Amino acid sequence: MSAIQALSQRGNPTDLYSRFSSFTAARDLMAADLYPFFLPLEGGEGPTVRRDGRTLIMCGSNNYLGLTGHPEVLAAARSALDRYGSSRTGSRFLNGNTDLHQELEAELADYLGKPAALVMSTGYQTNLGVLGTVLTPRDYVVLDRSAHASLLDGCRLSGAKVRWFPHNDPEGLRRTLERIPDEAGRLVVVDGVYSMEGDVCDLPAVVKMCSAYGARLLLDDAHGLGVLAEGRGTAAHFGLTDEVDLITVTFSKSLASLGGAVAGSEEAIHYLRHHARSLMFSASTTPTNAAAALAALRLLRARPELATAVQANAAYVRRGLAEAGVRSTPSSTPIVSLPTPGALETLTTWQRLLHDGVYVNPVLPPAAEPRLRTSYMASHTLDQLDRVVEACAAQDALLERPGNEGRSVSVA
Ligand SMILES: Cc1ncc(COP(=O)(O)O)c(C=O)c1O
Repeated sequence: MSAIQALSQRGNPTDLYSRFSSFTAARDLMAADLYPFFLPLEGGEGPTVRRDGRTLIMCGSNNYLGLTGHPEVLAAARSALDRYGSSRTGSRFLNGNTDLHQELEAELADYLGKPAALVMSTGYQTNLGVLGTVLTPRDYVVLDRSAHASLLDGCRLSGAKVRWFPHNDPEGLRRTLERIPDEAGRLVVVDGVYSMEGDVCDLPAVVKMCSAYGARLLLDDAHGLGVLAEGRGTAAHFGLTDEVDLITVTFSKSLASLGGAVAGSEEAIHYLRHHARSLMFSASTTPTNAAAALAALRLLRARPELATAVQANAAYVRRGLAEAGVRSTPSSTPIVSLPTPGALETLTTWQRLLHDGVYVNPVLPPAAEPRLRTSYMASHTLDQLDRVVEACAAQDALLERPGNEGRSVSVA
C-alpha cells in the first residue's frame, strides 16, 4: 500500500492506542518531502499570501470576494472587539447571545429571502445541528454523492437511514426516492455549489423530484452565497427560494469570517433554536466574527458587482487554462478543479506549483478523486491570473494529453 493510500487507513487494532503508532503515512510523506497539509502561512490572507518569506499567489482560498482584509470588515471587527470583549464564554442559548448576533440573523434572513435565520458557531456545526435535529432514526435522508462531509456527519448523528444518489443526477434521485417506503419521512440534501467540482446543483430538477415524492429539501449554500445571483446564492439564482425548506450557509467563505447559519420558516427556526444541540452546547461565534460577517454581508448587498467580479476572474482563468491545454472539470463558479492522473502526481504537481509561487489545494481520495482544487477571488489581478495559468501550463500532469485521463479511483 502506498503512503498516499495509507493516509486514509485507520488500522484495526483492539488496543485503541496502537492505531496511533501504526499510522505512519503522514510521516512517510513528510520524509519524502511531499506532505501538503497544515502549511503555516504568515500574515494576512488575500490574493497573495506569505510563506517562508516568499509571496505566493493564493488560489486555494474560499475568500471569494476578497473581503478578509477590507477596511470596513476590519473596522467592524475591531469595534466589536472593543465593545463586546474577546469572547462570550458560553452558548447563545444562555449567556452567549448578543444584540449583534440577532442583528446578523435578521439581515441574513432578509438577504436570503427567508422569514427567519439562526446563527451558529461554524458552518459544520450548523449542518450537524440542523440535520441532527430535523431527522430521526425513523426518517430517510437522500444525499448527493458529492455532498459535503458536514452534511453526512449531521445525517449520521441523527440516526436516519442514509441513501445516496449519483452526483447531480435527478434521475438517480428519482430512483432513490422511489425506493423509500411511503409512510417514512424524507429529506433531500444537496449543496448549491459543489466544493470539489465547482458545479452548480440542478436545483429545478431536485425541487421537482422533492415535490413529486413528498420530500423536504435542505440546500447547503456555503459556496453559492456571495457568488451566484449577484451574491444571493443558488436558490435565488434559480428563482426557487420558496421551494427550498432550509438553506444553510457559512461565514468562512464569501463573508470573510467564521460562523454559520440556517434560514427557513419562523416555525422551523424557532424549533431549531430550542433543539439543535451543536448550538445549545457550544459557545457562540465571537462578536468579532459576527461583526465581520455582518459588515461583509452589507458590502455584498451594497456592491453586487463583487460577485460579478469573482465570476469574471474565474471565467478568465478557465479560458486561459483551456487555451493552454490544461484539463479542468466543467464549472461556472470560482472553483476550478484540475484533475491529475493519480495521487502521486497530485502531490508532486502541488509541490512544483508552490515552488513556482502558486498556492493550490491538493485533494486526495477518499475526499474526492485526485486533483488540484483551485479557487479565485474578486481581488485577484489579471496579471496574477496570467501567472497562475502559465505555472499550470508548465505542469505535465495537468495537460490534456494521452495518459493523463486518470486512473479511476472509487471514492467513499
Ligand atoms: C459545502 C460546505 N458546507 C459546510 C462547510 C463548513 O463550513 P465551516 O468552515 O463554517 O465549518 C464547508 C466548508 O468547508 C463547505 O464547503
